[in-house]
Amino acid sequence: MSSSIFPSQPGEIKKVQLSAPFSDQKPGTSGLRKSSRRFEELHYLESFVEAIFQILPGVNGGTLVLGGDGRYGNKRAIDVILRMAAAHGVEKVITTTDGILSTPAGSHLIRQNNAIGGIILSASHNSGGPDGDFGVKVNGANGGPAPESLTNAIYACTQTLSEYKIIDSAPISLSSIGQHSIFGMRVEVIDGVEDYIDLMQKLFDFDRISSFISHNFPIAFDALNAVTGPYATRLFEGILQAPVGTVRNGIPLSDFGGCHPDPNLTYAKELADLLLIGNSYAFGAACDGDGDRNMILGRGCFVNPSDSLAVLTANATCVPAYATGLAGVARSMPTSAAVDVVAQDLGICCFETPTGWKFFGNLLDSGQITLCGEESFGTGSDHVREKDGLWAVLFWLQILAEKKCSVSELMSQHWRRFGRHYYSRHDYESISSEIANDLYESLELKLPKLIGNSFAGSSIKHADNFSYQDPVDSSITDGQGLRILLNDGSRVILRLSGTGTKGATLRVYLERFVESNGDLTQNPQQALLGLITEIDQLANITKLTGMAKPTVIT
Ligand code: G1P
Ligand code: ZN
Repeated sequence: MSSSIFPSQPGEIKKVQLSAPFSDQKPGTSGLRKSSRRFEELHYLESFVEAIFQILPGVNGGTLVLGGDGRYGNKRAIDVILRMAAAHGVEKVITTTDGILSTPAGSHLIRQNNAIGGIILSASHNSGGPDGDFGVKVNGANGGPAPESLTNAIYACTQTLSEYKIIDSAPISLSSIGQHSIFGMRVEVIDGVEDYIDLMQKLFDFDRISSFISHNFPIAFDALNAVTGPYATRLFEGILQAPVGTVRNGIPLSDFGGCHPDPNLTYAKELADLLLIGNSYAFGAACDGDGDRNMILGRGCFVNPSDSLAVLTANATCVPAYATGLAGVARSMPTSAAVDVVAQDLGICCFETPTGWKFFGNLLDSGQITLCGEESFGTGSDHVREKDGLWAVLFWLQILAEKKCSVSELMSQHWRRFGRHYYSRHDYESISSEIANDLYESLELKLPKLIGNSFAGSSIKHADNFSYQDPVDSSITDGQGLRILLNDGSRVILRLSGTGTKGATLRVYLERFVESNGDLTQNPQQALLGLITEIDQLANITKLTGMAKPTVIT
């Protein structure tokens, strides 16, 4: 690595007084996520970062990884965090050119460098720019999102904070790789893409994928103007030698070009139309703002994320890194049970965790699972401690290259073997928090009386608010979503989002299982109609929200 040592900027530690603590710094499903404007308020970012440095173990003398998805506020936050890290005695910060670092690549850097953890600046799939959202996510030494014990302690710290420490010094340049120093703290600016690509090359057989896609299997990847652009360009157009133009919207923009960097059928419509209506591509994929989510499409075929996890599990031995099989798998509670059926067939354990990647951490660390995923377009493995969008795309391509078939052929074969879990998520976004809480609480009160009642052609077997005991540290997390489980295996789940920034978002998850010899070719919304109608009546969704239909249907 070429390096230019800049003279150390001694500066001085400044203690800045806060007039009062910020009451709204409780991290949600993945870190502290607020509007960009809120983060720009005086001392707001600094307060949260101070709490991180007071709570994260090993700060004094430790190594920290720092970067983000390039959204508005990224570079300012890097400057502030670097100067605060120096004031707290961090020995070294590894950051990246232009501050560009995807969440999975950040997780890998933490692990590779034995760092005490990392700070990843992103509001994931939420829109960016001055009118969009910003976020600060803390990862621990295992490379994964901080567990609740840590985020609760960080929040508690923000509530009693009266000052923060920062060094007064000029911003360092992130425009090229190099070595810097702030108040004795080393800052290494590295290429945030390289190490991640090296890791992918260890997991997959790139020659086979390259040869497969070069033989009449055209692929399209949409980076949605977000962080995966540079990674995908090097992977697909570079190493895999796909034609230039394979990667669309591949330059990270601070406002994501005004788009919502969320890889689903609503927000990645351009790509979806290319695959579902057009005929030019055999495979399409997209990732979200910070690169941890993925959407997989085939010609005329959308792969439901719950099914995707099941397909990866069933075909894992196609990938060199998983050729000897899987230790076990896990899915978040609202994710469909498609993977459970595969796990049972393989004779491996399948764990059901609350929503949020942090709950997979202990299972991955203890070697009990190899793959895990969520219905929200998240899939990953023990190669890092975050979900990993591009890894999932490569995994799919490797399976297709080995099976030499199309996405829709692979899906039909899968369902014919394991049965099909019709699945959909209905989101009601930006509803008032009061109405959302009312709706949720009234349904929760009804749950104990529902057992035995008929529901969508079956009857209710079990209804509760999901609670989870971590198999490794025995910690209990309750209140994780209202579940209605039917005797025919169908499920309806209601949750309130923990990542939204405007009002509340109600998520309704619908699932119905059809055996392998049943009708496997229905339209999911049609197959789920009975459940959709019944839950609307039971929870009064249309009436209470005043919304005739969900904002987003996946
Ligand atoms: C959403 C998803 C969840 C995911 C999280 C972070 O959280 O539902 O699966 O882990 O984003 O990407 P929610 O808004 O539902 O709390
Ligand atoms: Zn994300």
